[in-house]
Amino acid sequence: MSDFLLKISNLTVSVTRNKQDIPIVKGIDMDIPRGKIVGLVGESGCGKSMTAKSIMGILPRSAHMNGSILWNDPDGSQTEITGLKEKELRKMCGPKIGMVFQEPMTSLNPMMKIGDQVAEVLFIHKLVKNRSEAKEKVIRTLGEVGIPEPERHYNSYPHRISGGMRQRVMIAMAVICEPSLLIADEPTTALDVTIEAQILKLIRHMCETHNMSALVITHNMGVVSTLCDKVYVMYMGRILERAPVDQLFKTPIHPYTRGLLSSIPRIHANPEYLATIPGNTPEFGKETVGCDFCLRCSDDQRRCFFEKPKEAEIEKDHFVSCFSANNRSK
Ligand SMILES: Nc1ncnc2c1ncn2[C@@H]1O[C@H](COP(=O)(O)OP(=O)(O)OP(=O)(O)O)[C@@H](O)[C@H]1O
Ligand SMILES: [Mg+2]
Repeated sequence: MSDFLLKISNLTVSVTRNKQDIPIVKGIDMDIPRGKIVGLVGESGCGKSMTAKSIMGILPRSAHMNGSILWNDPDGSQTEITGLKEKELRKMCGPKIGMVFQEPMTSLNPMMKIGDQVAEVLFIHKLVKNRSEAKEKVIRTLGEVGIPEPERHYNSYPHRISGGMRQRVMIAMAVICEPSLLIADEPTTALDVTIEAQILKLIRHMCETHNMSALVITHNMGVVSTLCDKVYVMYMGRILERAPVDQLFKTPIHPYTRGLLSSIPRIHANPEYLATIPGNTPEFGKETVGCDFCLRCSDDQRRCFFEKPKEAEIEKDHFVSCFSANNRSK
């Protein structure tokens, strides 16, 4: 039996703008192993959320996708998610896949008590027989995600609780059906560092206690190092490097990954100087023949401008798409 929970193969997503197809996600492969936390990292606009939305079947109307997203149940039965009708997909989202969105204030209904919002998920998926059973389960889950006095907070409205608490409510909503996969899209971006650390610890705790896998989307390498087992580095809709997290931090190969790592602020570093990656992300829709990163790269060679590098395995499970890495491949 294979140990992957979700396997993405050659996923492409394009959006139609002014009657033109603009490629956003450009043929990515990704493997989410059972019980592991996978990070998807990259700067703003590179296609991270589009990848997550493809899995959940919630792409915007202007977008269309191709490729395969294969779900592997513990009993070995496999489902091609891209082939599911909307009704079948809805049955998966909740019981099998839970999602936490970036901004909890806009994701929660301001007019509804938080307890009732979490309970709604149970009713939609017919997982409880009556209101009292739902209330009991919601209070238990709110307690589990660290909401103090969950009975009292059941009746709170979202604006009455802090950002960190709202994010905990979102996590409660995502995990209450005990899914096998949690997708967390920038779960801590809107939070301060202390609360961020608590939320990351909570996600890890929920994954460990419920044997859940997670796909954590972030632009923060610090989040990746704290939380993830394996990481995918995305740039302009392509995966440039993927590796187990320790390996990536020990021997980052792609100049983009190295740039991301060196731009993490360090406490003892020169406070006058913060490393950055020069230039800006090119506009989507302007395809280059060469490597997408060549205009911003410190290691550029002539061929980088005329040819796309193929992915090479440079050590076990560590893959890089870069000509300078090809010389090091196994
Ligand atoms: N609803 C939409 N309609 C058309 N184009 C979109 C839409 N949403 C996103 N895009 C385009 O897709 C690209 C990738 O968007 P996506 O939201 O996946 O980025 P991201 O990596 O999640 O960025 P961020 O870190 O800012 O959340 C964007 O640059 C944008 O041009
Ligand atoms: Mg996003």
